[in-house]
Amino acid sequence: MERLKVLVTRRWPAEVEARLANAFDVTLNESDTPLSAAELATAMADYDVLCPTVSDRIDAAVINGGGRVRLIANYGVGFDHIDLEAARSKGIAVTNTPGVLTDATADIALTLILMAARRAGEGERELRAGKWSGWRPTHLIGSALKGKVLGCVGFGRIGIATARRAHHGFGMKIAYYGRRPCDAAVAAELQAEFCPDLNGLLGKADFVSLHVPGGGDTANLIDAAAIAAMKPGSYLINTARGGVVDHDALAAALQSGHLAGAGLDVYPAEPAVPPALLGIENVVLLPHLGSANAETRAAMGMCALANVEAFARGTDLPNRVA
Ligand code: DGY
Repeated sequence: MERLKVLVTRRWPAEVEARLANAFDVTLNESDTPLSAAELATAMADYDVLCPTVSDRIDAAVINGGGRVRLIANYGVGFDHIDLEAARSKGIAVTNTPGVLTDATADIALTLILMAARRAGEGERELRAGKWSGWRPTHLIGSALKGKVLGCVGFGRIGIATARRAHHGFGMKIAYYGRRPCDAAVAAELQAEFCPDLNGLLGKADFVSLHVPGGGDTANLIDAAAIAAMKPGSYLINTARGGVVDHDALAAALQSGHLAGAGLDVYPAEPAVPPALLGIENVVLLPHLGSANAETRAAMGMCALANVEAFARGTDLPNRVA
C-alpha cells in the first residue's frame, strides 16, 4: 500500500487517528480550529490526500491553488462544501461516509421534534433562570405527536430512519416528498403517503422534517412562499443543511404564530446562527450535533480511512462521489 502523505483538517476520534497514523504519513491539525482558505490551498499543493469536514470550504479557488492532492476523503456524508466539478476537472477523486451516520442523525431529528413539540428548550431556560413558579395546568403546553403527520422533504436513508422512529415509536402518520415513490416495502411498513408536489406535503404536515442534500439544487427550497404553504400551527425541523431554509422568513413565521415552532441543527454560514432566531423562544437551536455520538464519529472516521486505504492500494473507492 502506497504510504501517502495525508492532511486531516480537524481532530478525529483517537482510535481512527491512531490507525491512520499507522498506515500513512499523517499531519493532524492539532489546534482543531478551521484552516484558512490559503492554508487549505497550500495543503492541496503539499499532500496526496486531504481529509476535510463539513466545516472546510473546498471551493474552486482552494482546489485550483493545489496540484498534488489526488484524493479528497471527506469525513461526513454531505459534500456540498466541496466543488465536485473543480475536483473532477483536476482529476481529483472525492469520497464521503454514507450510511454510518443515518441513525445518529435521525435521532437528532426526533430530538428536535420532541423538544419543539414539548417546548423542552423553553422550559429548561425558564428553570435555569429561576423563573419556574411550579406546576400548573396551563404551563408550557405543547403538542402531542400521536396521530400527527410527519412530512419528510427527501426520503433517503435519513428521512426513512426518521420516519421509522416517528411512526413506530410515536404513532405519527408519514407523508413524504421526493423525486419518486419510495420502495414498496418501506411504503407499506410506514403506511407512507407519497406527495409528488412539495406544497401538497407542506399543506398537510404537522411537522415538516428536511432530509435533502445541500447545494444549489435545494438552496432556499423552504422560502417564504413554502413557509406560507405550511399548515398553520405546524413545525419545521432541519437536520439537513442550513441553506435549504430562508431563515428571515422562518423567523417571521415563528413570530407571527403561523408556525408553532421549529428545531434546527444546521445553519447557512456555520458557526454563525441567523441573528433573527436567537431572540425567538419557540425555536430549538442545536450546534450541528446530527452525527455527534462516539460510535458514529468513530464509524465515520473508519469509513473515511477505508476510502484512503483503497486509494493507496489502487482499488475501487468504496464511497466515491466524484
Ligand atoms: C455530514 O456528515 O454531512 C454531517 O452534516 C456532519 O456530520
